[in-house]
Order: sequence, then structure tokens, then C-alpha cells
Amino acid sequence: MTDVDWAALRAAAREAMTHAYAPYSRFPVGVAGLVDDGRVVTGCNVENASYGLGLCAECGLVSELVRTGGGRLVAVACVGGDGQPLMPCGRCRQLLWEHGGADMLLETVSLGIVPMREVLPDAFGPEDLTAAATRSAGDSAAAATRSAGGRAAADRGQG
Ligand code: THU
Repeated sequence: MTDVDWAALRAAAREAMTHAYAPYSRFPVGVAGLVDDGRVVTGCNVENASYGLGLCAECGLVSELVRTGGGRLVAVACVGGDGQPLMPCGRCRQLLWEHGGADMLLETVSLGIVPMREVLPDAFGPEDLTAAATRSAGDSAAAATRSAGGRAAADRGQG
């Protein structure tokens, strides 16, 4: 993976921001992400008359990421209407985590460029589901062993 061209990423985020549909908040947001295959994907916020249904810019970005072939996000820059860095909201940090994980770099407002683990510490993620599934598979296997053991004991007249 080549070095991240943050100026280009920021420029892509600013360009995306010009497409924002934000008639209610009048707060346009643009975001751009570098993918591990070198693609750059972008998004802008798209609001709705039913206010709660508005989509953050990051929603558009992850949608484009998946639609155009997936991959892992390596670096993300998010900007507000002034073109300056903007912190992704909590929900969107979770969206980014899903597709970039702990090592994904984010341009922040006050911390500089930092990995996601610093802006979403101790994050919940796909591994938690895998871990739970593995535990529950283990539990089922143990239960099956116990019940097989129980049957064997019953067969021996010890049940
Ligand atoms: N917004 C984003 O697009 N991304 C964020 O991470 C923060 C907030 C949008 C949602 C809404 O359209 C507007 O900014 C004001 O909250």
C-alpha cells in the first residue's frame, strides 16, 4: 500500500461535500476514503423531510465502497461546509470501523491523523460476533458431549 495522499483525500471529500443534500440542517458534509486497492470512495449527507431518516455522508461512502467492489478502508477524511476536518459522529465511527477496523487512519479535528482505535476505543465489531458464535458452538458441543455421556451412563444402568 502506498502512502496516503491526504491532500488528495481532503480534496475528494470537499468535492463530495458540494453534492450534499442538506436543506434542513444547511450543514453539508463530505467524506472520502482510500481503499486498500487504491480506489477512492466518497459520500455526502442526504437529508430527508422526515428528519430522522437523514443519511450521514459516511453512509454514502460505505455504500459506494461495497457497491464498487468492497475492500478495506485505509484512510478517511471527512469535512464540513468550510472544507475543514469534521469528526464523524459516533454512529459513523462504527460504520467506518466495520470496513476499516482499528488500523484505519482518520483525519481528526484535534488529534491529527490517528488510527480508529483512538477515536473508538474498545470498539464493538465483527470479531465480537465471531467470538460469541465460537463460544456458543463450543457450548453446544459440550452439551452434546454431556448428553451423549448421560445416555451412555443410562445404558450402563447408571442414569
Ligand atoms: N453529518 C454527517 O454527514 N456525518 C457526520 O459524521 C456528522 C453529521 C450530517 C448529518 C446531517 O445531515 C448534518 O450533518 C447535520 O447534523
